Amino acid sequence: MGEMDYENRIVASGYTQDDANEQTLRPQTINDYIGQEKVKENLKIYIEAAKSRGETLDHCLLYGPPGLGKTTLAGIIANEMGVNFRVTSGPAIEKPGDLAALLTNLSDGDVLFVDEIHRLSRSVEEVLYPAMEDNALDIIIGKGPSARSIRLDLPHFTLIGATTRAGQLSAPLRDRFGVVLRLELYTPEELAQIVRRSAGIIGTAIDDEGALEIASRSRGTPRIANRLLKRVRDFAQVLGKGVVDLESAQLALTRLEIDELGLDNIDRSLLRAIIEFYQGGPVGLETIAAVIGEEAITIEDVYEPYLLQLGFLGRTPRGRVVTPAGYEHLGIKIQGQQKLF
Ligand SMILES: Nc1ncnc2c1ncn2[C@@H]1O[C@H](COP(=O)(O)OP(=O)(O)OP(=O)(O)O)[C@@H](O)[C@H]1O
Ligand SMILES: [Mg+2]
Repeated sequence: MGEMDYENRIVASGYTQDDANEQTLRPQTINDYIGQEKVKENLKIYIEAAKSRGETLDHCLLYGPPGLGKTTLAGIIANEMGVNFRVTSGPAIEKPGDLAALLTNLSDGDVLFVDEIHRLSRSVEEVLYPAMEDNALDIIIGKGPSARSIRLDLPHFTLIGATTRAGQLSAPLRDRFGVVLRLELYTPEELAQIVRRSAGIIGTAIDDEGALEIASRSRGTPRIANRLLKRVRDFAQVLGKGVVDLESAQLALTRLEIDELGLDNIDRSLLRAIIEFYQGGPVGLETIAAVIGEEAITIEDVYEPYLLQLGFLGRTPRGRVVTPAGYEHLGIKIQGQQKLF
């Protein structure tokens, strides 16, 4: 399976070079942000309440799989609050001093967005606690017995943390967020709306059937939907009438080897490998990783979630299994002994 092109996988949910125009497709206001109705409803209330009190919004934690709109939503929150949007990420803040510099440079009311917040180091986190709780920075001056701590006041700010893995956040950090919002996979109808909106922005003609076809193969993920739209547009322009319709969408997605559920070759070969080499499982994640030549953590974060969500893959204490639905989708008959599902 060495020929698999993991890096250029068109249905990857993470950011790729294909998504370079993502910024232009980002909605700017909460009313343009499609779907996530529960999250939006609550947020609107928190924003309105904070504004009418003349206060900053509580610190917010946004979590959910890649490409669902965490960064977009954070920008919208800042926009709706009418404050600056300052962006950084967990891995970018290496030392406590880096964070102290960021915090002391904030203006009153700013939103500080920390992407991949689960990757902050312990020592950086410790600087964050008093900043989040008391708008204060504790600085140690001197060394040894003469060392003492002084407290600096910081501007009021709203921390917005984003993570794909809420489980990896330390409990003390998680507890300091007043608002915790989980983003969910989008329905095909919501994604179709997003695709139509994006088509308008990139200036491509599209009909409802074409939008829905792209949407239903986008794995619940706006980033993938926008990426597929751009590819389908190319096919429509060169081989079709220039309109993204059912025909051009089906043609393009077939050529890209993305099936009607949005699975690509990598998904299919992962399932097939478990069936062919391990009779459908159970088989350990590490073993699967070795067979398909990927890292276990990548399989867990990137390939598995959608297969689990579709119910094609199951997790057991003894490893992964392909479910009857998974067999059926591949058109393979279940053979041999009873499977463990
Ligand atoms: N609710 C939405 N409505 C319209 N477009 C959306 C929505 N959510 C996301 N998008 C689009 O999907 C793309 C990816 O969104 P975004 O970068 O915010 O995802 P993310 O959750 O931050 O991903 P990552 O975990 O990789 O950082 C953006 O181009 C954005 O325009
Ligand atoms: Mg992001």
